[in-house]
Amino acid sequence: MVRVAVAGGSGQVAREVIDALVASKKHCITILSRTDAPMAITAPGTNWQTVDYSDKKTLVEALQGVHTLLSFVQPLSDPEQRSQKNLIDAAICAGVKRFAPSEYGSAGIARMPWWQGKDRIREYLKEVNSEANVLEYTLFQPGLFLDYLAFPYMTAKYLDPLQTVFDFENRRAMVVEGHEDAIMTLTTVADLAEVVALAVEYSGRWPTTSGIRGNRLTFSQILKIGARIRGHAFAVEKVNIEDLEAGHLKTSWRLEAVHQAASDHDASNLLQAVSIGILLSSSKGAWDSSDEVNQLFPDYEFTQAEDFLSKVWSGKP
Ligand SMILES: NC(=O)c1ccc[n+]([C@@H]2O[C@H](COP(=O)([O-])OP(=O)(O)OC[C@H]3O[C@@H](n4cnc5c(N)ncnc54)[C@H](OP(=O)(O)O)[C@@H]3O)[C@@H](O)[C@H]2O)c1
Repeated sequence: MVRVAVAGGSGQVAREVIDALVASKKHCITILSRTDAPMAITAPGTNWQTVDYSDKKTLVEALQGVHTLLSFVQPLSDPEQRSQKNLIDAAICAGVKRFAPSEYGSAGIARMPWWQGKDRIREYLKEVNSEANVLEYTLFQPGLFLDYLAFPYMTAKYLDPLQTVFDFENRRAMVVEGHEDAIMTLTTVADLAEVVALAVEYSGRWPTTSGIRGNRLTFSQILKIGARIRGHAFAVEKVNIEDLEAGHLKTSWRLEAVHQAASDHDASNLLQAVSIGILLSSSKGAWDSSDEVNQLFPDYEFTQAEDFLSKVWSGKP
């Protein structure tokens, strides 16, 4: 049994992972949060510790005896990534064995300004380990949550539905002209949680990148699945690279549901940036996750997109 600390453990993705860690009954779990524990979200089998990410001394104290530290700190809320940098420094001081920063997304980050904080942390982890290996770490990269193709329906316990460029509800999609074969990795958040729990149990050294390929599909394949499940072909709006590069999204519809971490003020800019960013980055291969986790746990059976989406959309208008 090892001690696992979960920073940002009150968040949506973290809570999915915490449930999987609790279910394994193999760890002693501490949730780190900036606020006192609300009774409603203290999972049984966990304890809660209030921390101040600007106070390294108390962070080091909180991390004493911790073997594995998983961070789910919202990168959008901390543009300079001070919280995660301080967490990394404190983890090194406290002798934490291994660390996973708040990734859980795409392999590439370029063209996605809302995720630039992840790049800062990737660089910081390289920097602290440049002279000697002081902190083992891995970047968990499951691609886009498959659950989002069920929008507006909720398919996980805590993860809110979010709109994407694949709009199964209205049978429509945005695609980059000439990049219909761009790859999108799609993994359910439940599978992410299960494989992160397996990785925490795993006693070997973590690879620096932990690509997770729940489903590796081209845009065209996703649209074919959509047509089969939703009864007819999607209305596909083709956008061209030059317009996207210039910051223009020439489509007849827009994303409307914003992640809860975005402020109302940022919402419409963020929604436009997300559509453009996902389309542009996918055309450059950013969502083609590697498969280190599939190789580490070859017996793990990932939820298949067509099975999952067939169930979700069965009987839905
Ligand atoms: N691949 C995908 O499709 C996908 C989708 C969603 C999210 N993600 C990724 O998953 C990770 C978690 O996302 P999420 O949506 O679960 O996050 P979230 O719920 O918005 O936030 C997670 C936690 O971060 C903490 N936090 C917020 N601002 C902070 C700050 N300045 N300093 C320290 N802690 C702060 C909060 O905990 P306390 O208030 O308790 O301290 C919050 O509960 C992110 O890296 C995100 O990019 C990936």
